[in-house]
Amino acid sequence: MVTENQVREALDSVLDPELKKSITELEMVRNILISDGEVKFTLALTTLRCPMKEKIVKKAQEAIEKIPGVSRVEVALTAMSEEELHRLFPKHPLKGIEKTAHFIAVASGKGGVGKTTVALNLALALKNEGFKVGLLDADVYGPSIPVMMGLSEKPQSEAGMIVPLEKFGLKVMSFGFLLEESHPLIWRGPLVGKAVKQLLNDVMWGELDYLVVDLPPGTGDPSITVAQSIPTVSLVVVTTPQEVALADVKKAINMFKKMDISILGIVENMSYFKCAHSDEKIEIFGAGGGERLSQQMDIPLLGKIPIDLDLRRGEDEGRPGIIDSPDSETSIVFKEIARQLAASFSKPADAAGQSLRSDPK
Ligand SMILES: Nc1ncnc2c1ncn2[C@@H]1O[C@H](COP(=O)(O)OP(=O)(O)O)[C@@H](O)[C@H]1O
Ligand SMILES: [Mg+2]
Repeated sequence: MVTENQVREALDSVLDPELKKSITELEMVRNILISDGEVKFTLALTTLRCPMKEKIVKKAQEAIEKIPGVSRVEVALTAMSEEELHRLFPKHPLKGIEKTAHFIAVASGKGGVGKTTVALNLALALKNEGFKVGLLDADVYGPSIPVMMGLSEKPQSEAGMIVPLEKFGLKVMSFGFLLEESHPLIWRGPLVGKAVKQLLNDVMWGELDYLVVDLPPGTGDPSITVAQSIPTVSLVVVTTPQEVALADVKKAINMFKKMDISILGIVENMSYFKCAHSDEKIEIFGAGGGERLSQQMDIPLLGKIPIDLDLRRGEDEGRPGIIDSPDSETSIVFKEIARQLAASFSKPADAAGQSLRSDPK
């Protein structure tokens, strides 16, 4: 006979990957029902949009299935009420982003693959979809958002907080606004983490649907600390099609997976080139790299961005592609990716009471 205590004990070992506490301690486990070998319970998440929910459910099922006599596990999902959230999490740790709903960070294996281009155009495309969007340039090595957006002024302070700049309908903050060009700093991990937390805490981001973050490139300390400094962050990973770039990206993906950071998808940049006189796609850096990576890592390929000379020219002059030529092939791909991202945060499958079943053999 399986008992409720056994089920609770099994679930003690299942941690919420973000909060790093057991789901029982977080009072997420409710309504345990046991009949014969069948165990049902309700998992109350902080939000039904939790990108980790499938992972938590799977771990919970696996833990319960280990109890002798269990033949089937059924998990119903629900969301905690406002009061419960306030009781469990009395104070948001970072003031500046307390009203930000979602965080999307753009990562890459190495520099120069178009990470900033993707972050900037996705932020603008999300804004075009009607969302309130902020853009945080956290690339300490090469903060290039100020140049790509044509921003040369410095942000002002108000009531002890930094007011982000606004352009093209985005709220923007960059390490570049804070660094003196003539005094490049050498950043080490802990310092970067502290600085990014400060930008999340001390900047008046206000109410945002999305904060898009341009991470430092690579798998080094800074990109890890930045990703860890942002609560409930999900990643978009940028690659180019050639094998060497893919190897770097795999390394980056494995590292983020190890940290239990959810990855929404891969964007392949510089996928092909079309010359002005023909519709033929010339695959300068090879073909199929993004698809292969997507299959191998089991992460969706969100889109393929062409090599676009106007895009590059515009960025050099502070005019992002989506603003400069909203109907170009490139801009259409960016808009399509933004729609997929927005959809992944508001899936109707999130409806309360949804059951994820497992039937162990
Ligand atoms: N799809 C593209 N077509 C043409 N040029 C691009 C494309 N993507 C990026 N670039 C250019 O390549 C350079 C590096 O891109 P950037 O977004 O700064 O990369 P990262 O942030 O990864 O270093 C920039 O000059 C940018 O304008
Ligand atoms: Mg960059």
